[in-house]
Amino acid sequence: MNTQFCPSLMCVDFSRLAQELTELESAGAAMFHIDIMDGHFVPNLALGPEDIKAVAKLATIPYDAHLMVSNPDAYIDKFADLGCRIIYVHAEAPTHLHRTLTHIRQRGVQAGVAINPGTPLGCLTEVLDVVDVVLVMSVNPGFAGQPFIANAIGKTRRLRKMLAEHSSKAKIAIDGAVSPEIVKTLAMEADMFVLGTAGLFRNNMSYVQAMQILREQLLEAQAETGHCAV
Ligand code: DX5
Ligand code: ZN
Repeated sequence: MNTQFCPSLMCVDFSRLAQELTELESAGAAMFHIDIMDGHFVPNLALGPEDIKAVAKLATIPYDAHLMVSNPDAYIDKFADLGCRIIYVHAEAPTHLHRTLTHIRQRGVQAGVAINPGTPLGCLTEVLDVVDVVLVMSVNPGFAGQPFIANAIGKTRRLRKMLAEHSSKAKIAIDGAVSPEIVKTLAMEADMFVLGTAGLFRNNMSYVQAMQILREQLLEAQAETGHCAV
């Protein structure tokens, strides 16, 4: 398992974006996570297409778009045109989730489905054939800096089993309050971790130091379980 760390760009200092992205890439970021909010699906606004255009000019690694919006169908083409590697839509948002995910794939973009803490895994069974990544929300979406919701641990483990039962090759990503402890706890289940204030944007710690701590957690989990997580 080649675990990927994905910094959440709503946590960066946009007044020094170029330096931030360079430092995050040097620290080992695999993909940038870009949170898009409409103030309706979630009670907040975050980044937008102009921010992605700026990131696209500066980044040398891929970036995704996490659409926390009520009508994702209206935006798929826009974010595909902006070069997003993955587009995450929330399972709770579109009327026709299978059609929405199919549309993302038709644009040559990986189809991601995000599920809120209160949403059962059962909502995924009929769309696994058109899903590339499941984004397990471990906070209620809309804000960085919230506490981790513990049921995400058992849910992620059940999801891993469910994907195996359905012979799905979909990856699992965890999003929200991901700390070094959570990286170790879910090292064998998650392929990607979205990193915000709990794991990467930490007071008096460089990105290199924070990422090193996270990698050490993967290695500790590997040593304890005997499986490769890095
Ligand atoms: C929340 C976003 C997350 C968030 C992660 O709605 O989807 O990506 O920015 O930040 P932390 O790790 O601080 O929760
Ligand atoms: Zn997110």
